[in-house]
Amino acid sequence: MHSNRRDFLKSSAAAAVWTATGPRLRALAGPPAREILLAASPVTVDVGGRAVTTWAYNGRVPGPEIRVRQGERLRIVLRNDLPQPTTIHWHGLPVPNAQDGVPGLTQGPVAPGETFVYEFDATTPGTYFYHSHQGLQLDRGLYGPLVIEPASPPPAEASDREHTLVLDDWLDGTPEEAYAALGASGAGGMGGMGRRAADGPLYARYLVNGAPTGAIPPLRVARGERVRLRLVNASAATTMRVGVAGHRLTVTHSDGQPVEPVDVDTLVIGMGERYDVVLRAENHGAWPLVTGPADSSVPGAIVPVIYEGTAPTLPPVFVWPTSLWRGRTLRYADLVPSGGAPTLAAIDRVIPLTLGWSPFGYVWTINGQAYPDADPIALTGGERVRLQIFNATMMRHPMHLHGHFFEVVGRGARPSGLVKDTVLVEPMMGGVALDFTADNPGRWFFHCHHLYHMEAGMARALEYV
Ligand code: C2O
Ligand code: CU
Repeated sequence: MHSNRRDFLKSSAAAAVWTATGPRLRALAGPPAREILLAASPVTVDVGGRAVTTWAYNGRVPGPEIRVRQGERLRIVLRNDLPQPTTIHWHGLPVPNAQDGVPGLTQGPVAPGETFVYEFDATTPGTYFYHSHQGLQLDRGLYGPLVIEPASPPPAEASDREHTLVLDDWLDGTPEEAYAALGASGAGGMGGMGRRAADGPLYARYLVNGAPTGAIPPLRVARGERVRLRLVNASAATTMRVGVAGHRLTVTHSDGQPVEPVDVDTLVIGMGERYDVVLRAENHGAWPLVTGPADSSVPGAIVPVIYEGTAPTLPPVFVWPTSLWRGRTLRYADLVPSGGAPTLAAIDRVIPLTLGWSPFGYVWTINGQAYPDADPIALTGGERVRLQIFNATMMRHPMHLHGHFFEVVGRGARPSGLVKDTVLVEPMMGGVALDFTADNPGRWFFHCHHLYHMEAGMARALEYV
């Protein structure tokens, strides 16, 4: 077995001199690394009573939750027992470049039978996740949650219970077959004659923590409790909506970063986005937590929310409860950061990026180019950059930047201070601007987190020069 120990030693030396700015904190010195083994292998898992063969970490979908305290050092040993090369990406965490897990950009792919050691510091508290960054492997189930608890938890964040809910769209068959079928279906954005062709694969069902409706363990709550839910959308191609009948949800964190609490009926979560919400258990009974594709009134998966002393049974839910469906949905404009003020530094450079598609085959582009046949975007260390994104397609795109947090620019081009790493760009002339400081040298991926769009070209490399 071959291990890239030398490489990681080199890069952890680099990590020691890496200066943190913005919402990041300097790693605390000294603690020994927490070592975790993640073995990627083919497995047979039970999906709602059906045995299906897929790929997973440590034999389960999702992979094990990695939970550490801010300041700890993580050493994660990836063992590749798959028949294909693989890597792991630590989504949302600005790790040193060599630990970022993008094959061909930050490391070579880890061959079958090999191991690779990732090492980085848990610098910024929050809800993250990890996943394979090789091809379409994420859509087989190679993902898991990653939680960094604050070194000293703010009292306002105290909760009585906490659950992590990882949302997924489940494919019957392999993602490679699904991708080939999309290519055969022709136009990506819009078919000829105004017919809308496929945006992504057709999913057989939707899972929460690896289980479909009926097999998801109920969330048990007691009256009066504050229940914290960490919501992660690990879907490959489905923007999800989440709500709990009979309750509002208080949003407290977006992409792991604290925001002023805001009450909503539902949230729309793009692929790769995370929200932490608090459910105040003040409405005794048995209630459905409903989730599924954001634009469909047919729920994808139901998690029973059962108060103590209530029978753990729920009638089936065939459509979204009206109170939720017609209720208030979280918008980015509702999110006010509580962690810090907007960065008012002058923008050194504006980079316009137009999201597009090709009418010839299943091809998705940025400024007319489909990765890897695309020019890298050059960054100069220390500059403040604005990515000005314009969506010329009919689809939403959750755009994700590696290695940096960015600030979402609000109305009137004024920085809002809202810190995220993944942002949904609305369809049909929708746009958003993202500001960040180029403070983490290396080669970084910027891409749509719709896995099939990414595979079909909607991605760019950002390179420090
Ligand atoms: Cu979760 Cu390149 O992303
Ligand atoms: Cu996309």
